[in-house]
Amino acid sequence: MSRLVIISNRLPVTINRSAGELHYHPSAGGLATGLNSLDESYNKLWIGWPGVDITDEWEKESVRRDLAGQKLAPVFLTPREIELYYEGFSNKTIWPHFHYFTEYTTYNDDMWDAYQEVNFKFFQETEKHLRDGDMVWVHDYQLMLLPQMIRDKFPNISIGFFLHIPFPSYEVFRILPWRKQILDGILGSDQIGFHTFGYMRHFLSAAYRISGYEHVFGRLHIDEREINVDVFPMGINYEKYAHPDVNAEDDKGSGEIRRLHASRKIVLSVDRLDYTKGIPQRVSAFGRFIRNNPQYSGKVNLIMIVVPSRANVDQYQSLKAEVDVLVSQINSQYGTFDWMPIHYYYYRSLNFASLTTLYREADIALITPLRDGMNLVAKEYVAAKEDTKDGVLILSEMAGAVYELNDGALTVNPQSHQEIEEALLEALEMSAEEKAERMENMQEKLKRYDVKHWAATFIKEQSKLKERNKMGS
Ligand code: UDP
Ligand code: G6P
Repeated sequence: MSRLVIISNRLPVTINRSAGELHYHPSAGGLATGLNSLDESYNKLWIGWPGVDITDEWEKESVRRDLAGQKLAPVFLTPREIELYYEGFSNKTIWPHFHYFTEYTTYNDDMWDAYQEVNFKFFQETEKHLRDGDMVWVHDYQLMLLPQMIRDKFPNISIGFFLHIPFPSYEVFRILPWRKQILDGILGSDQIGFHTFGYMRHFLSAAYRISGYEHVFGRLHIDEREINVDVFPMGINYEKYAHPDVNAEDDKGSGEIRRLHASRKIVLSVDRLDYTKGIPQRVSAFGRFIRNNPQYSGKVNLIMIVVPSRANVDQYQSLKAEVDVLVSQINSQYGTFDWMPIHYYYYRSLNFASLTTLYREADIALITPLRDGMNLVAKEYVAAKEDTKDGVLILSEMAGAVYELNDGALTVNPQSHQEIEEALLEALEMSAEEKAERMENMQEKLKRYDVKHWAATFIKEQSKLKERNKMGS
């Protein structure tokens, strides 16, 4: 079996330092949770950043050893690289820009330089590990220059690239001064994958209008190389959420959730604290719902799980302050002695037991990003209803997941408080039969197109291309 070398900025394990000790935690975020639930049928090596700043050589060596046991290889970033490449170009330039928050895009040459340097640093780590016959799979917006760097040194290696966030329309993409270099970087791959048809179309249009590459049904040619650009919507490990394997020790916190649910309807949201997720808009819409529907006063709770993210980036800090204020305004305006409308938890990350109990207990999942590459939480919620079929998904039109889930979810424009209010009412009053029918529609798809199917399809297509490109060379 040929080896699959996965390269992403973040490893599936994140290390935190507290009281001088290093602690290992599973990483949050769709890329890490999704890819990490691929089973052992792949002979994998995963290269990435462990999320902590380590300078001591002994400590690095010990982390390297710990991670090697899990087939993970760390790339250590210096504080300057974290600031300019990770918080900087990746999360102050590309992330906002690709999510259409162009007013947040920072244009800074030092950040661009750091982005190039760190992509090269990932290349140097990759180069150490690469063996004949390996298949390389580069992930996401932090490493868009890496495919071409690998291609330059290993012209015959098979390289895939998958973008987990939206690819913006040409009109937005072309604003970036570094657009050509970014495109050329990605085009070092043999296969380029996106979650939705729209993102793929935007990429192909940019490739043509900026670099002059024409495509035929998603295939384009650079020199002798044929490149396949296609849509591969990422799935989840369905069984893991449908029938969670949770031990009693981890499950302790779940009793409280069940007790709460015994007396009230639960509306749930789970996201990283990110301005793309539409959190303030959701809170305000929920406030409007309570105001206009006094019959539900005391009977419904919004449980909002918010995971801290990129806390050194300004916009994330101001978002935290904004959400804190909004939540307390609504709670103080509408709350009573025995009812607090919004339960807002700002956690490092929930454990799997609590997360899956919340999914199972929640009557409604309210997932309203302003822009989201895919949104795996929506899929996980639906899978968790496998046995009961009792729940309603309210999903933003702006999430990549909507294309697979729109025959079961209630879809809303995340900027419209009115639409969210109406969807909440419809969900709360929906008959058991309708809920079950909608759930089944979505579950059928998610079961079939799970994360294993996603990876297998991507890899199969890439392997075919590898053979063809070899024959051509
Ligand atoms: N997640 C987690 N712990 C939490 C909250 C979320 O592990 O406390 C996971 C969640 O199960 C999901 C991922 O983080 O798999 C979030 O992925 P999604 O695609 O919804 O959004 P992203 O964070 O990638 O933008
Ligand atoms: C999104 C991105 C991932 C990223 C994750 C968490 O899912 O597509 O590449 O890993 O968010 O963000 P972080 O900055 O903590 O890695």
